[in-house]
Amino acid sequence: MNAVDDEKPRRADGAPWRNFYGRRHGKALRPRQRSLLETRLDALAPPGVDWAENPERAPIDLAALFPGARDVWLEIGFGGGEHLIATAVAHPDVGIIGCEPFVNGVAMFLAALETAGAGNVRVHAGDARFLFDVLPDACLGRVYLLYPDPWPKNRHVDRRFVNAQNLAEIARLLRPGGEFRLATDIPAYVAHSLKRVTESGAFERVDVDPATPWEGWPGTRYEAKALREGRRPAYRRFIRR
Ligand SMILES: C[S@@+](CC[C@H](N)C(=O)[O-])C[C@H]1O[C@@H](n2cnc3c(N)ncnc32)[C@H](O)[C@@H]1O
Repeated sequence: MNAVDDEKPRRADGAPWRNFYGRRHGKALRPRQRSLLETRLDALAPPGVDWAENPERAPIDLAALFPGARDVWLEIGFGGGEHLIATAVAHPDVGIIGCEPFVNGVAMFLAALETAGAGNVRVHAGDARFLFDVLPDACLGRVYLLYPDPWPKNRHVDRRFVNAQNLAEIARLLRPGGEFRLATDIPAYVAHSLKRVTESGAFERVDVDPATPWEGWPGTRYEAKALREGRRPAYRRFIRR
């Protein structure tokens, strides 16, 4: 099996498809990137996310996935994986799951992981919502959503990852006191998120200066581009009630 979640997801329960609006592929992969995808990804994929393997959507066993880990954190849409790898290296006692459907990003991440050598990372190379399905309640201590696709046009607002359904899932997965961390360079996305998070009723906003990155912040590829183009990131933290 190739662990790149490249198939249109099948719903065993007959529920509608989930639309995915981003890109799955970019420019042609180099032979080394292709080889990393073919040889490394399966071993990093959490078992039970794939529909064919787990049509009942039974919860996956995180203790077996990360034996001895003091906590498990999730990063949604890790891009090239800069933050995912830096966080894994800085917190070797935490198990970290990353999700990313953009295959070129996953390939970049795999190349960087070869160098960094962190053993506490697992990767779902697909849409985060299919991982949500199989994660048990209150299993996570932290969820990162860093520079989600902005979808700036009014008619595309429904495509934003921060919506009532995804926030309800993030709230379900975080244990009380766990943190949802969001970074974005788009002021309209900040306003949109604050409104949706407040409406969800599940989180307390941490009162910090939103212009100051959180401690140990390593930056991301998308953030570097935003800064070059003169946009100002906001870093928000929310605690699960
Ligand atoms: C603007 S990029 C930011 C990437 C990275 N976080 C960074 O800061 O460099 C947004 C990323 O979110 C990913 N993404 C979009 N929808 C997603 C979903 N449903 N599940 C997981 N990742 C998703 C995209 O593929 C893309 O790589």
